[in-house]
Amino acid sequence: MRYSFKGNTVLVTGAGSGIGAATAQLLAANGLNVVVSDLHAEAVARVVSEIRSKGGKASAHTGDVSRPEDAEAAVSQAIEHFGSLHFAFNNAGISGALKPCGELSPEDWQRVIAINLSGVQYGLRFQIPAILKSGGGAIVNMSSILGLVGIGAAPAYTAAKHGVTGLTRAAALTYSSQGIRINSIHPGYVNTPILDVLSEAERAAMVGLHPIGRIGHPEEIAHATVFLLSEGASFITGSAMVVDGGYTAA
Ligand SMILES: NC(=O)c1ccc[n+]([C@@H]2O[C@H](COP(=O)([O-])OP(=O)(O)OC[C@H]3O[C@@H](n4cnc5c(N)ncnc54)[C@H](O)[C@@H]3O)[C@@H](O)[C@H]2O)c1
Repeated sequence: MRYSFKGNTVLVTGAGSGIGAATAQLLAANGLNVVVSDLHAEAVARVVSEIRSKGGKASAHTGDVSRPEDAEAAVSQAIEHFGSLHFAFNNAGISGALKPCGELSPEDWQRVIAINLSGVQYGLRFQIPAILKSGGGAIVNMSSILGLVGIGAAPAYTAAKHGVTGLTRAAALTYSSQGIRINSIHPGYVNTPILDVLSEAERAAMVGLHPIGRIGHPEEIAHATVFLLSEGASFITGSAMVVDGGYTAA
């Protein structure tokens, strides 16, 4: 499916793998110039080369979303390489340690919050002025079903993803009237390397939590994200879009 877009350049973080890579590829297939940003240079190079081999336009950026200077550099690169920035998908994230609150170390807490929550705010800090300068656009922030409900074994992840839900609403309240729609997306469990921390038994148990009878594919989250960025979603802002095979309906 092809969507229509008001602008032409998008920045995707965590684009070297999983949901971010699938979304970067779908955005490129829809004619957007894509800044492919990730912590891992080799993964970035692979995704850029896949996009280019299919006739798309992509630029490689290696950086850490938990470092404000890297977030600024990603935006600068979009402008230097493609002339402007209209869209962003703040997607990079980690699962972090699976330990309840009474056992979680301060270091494990801070790492998850730094990447999964502060990383989104650092992105917004530099993307929003650039998108305003380009005449407007849209942003999607990656949350999770765990931005709406909790899991006892993942307190830092749950807190960070709830934080993304609130941060998105606050940003949307300020910038929707200035031409930037900002939404969060909330996938159920999706088959990507982030689930490598789970045992086979834990993975099987995850399936049972999704009324649809399976976990998701990265491309299914990519389609919802690309829709939210597109003109098809022109009246959608400040929303929390659930893409979870029914997980949160229970
Ligand atoms: N897979 C799931 O079940 C699921 C469900 C809900 C939400 N999510 C969220 O989706 C996002 C993407 O995860 P995924 O499932 O595709 O996992 P993934 O591990 O395949 O991809 C995550 C990407 O983020 C990158 N990354 C990690 N830390 C980074 C940092 N500090 N700076 C820049 N890049 C960094 C990794 O290198 C990797 O390429 C995450 O925010 C995750 O929390 C995943």
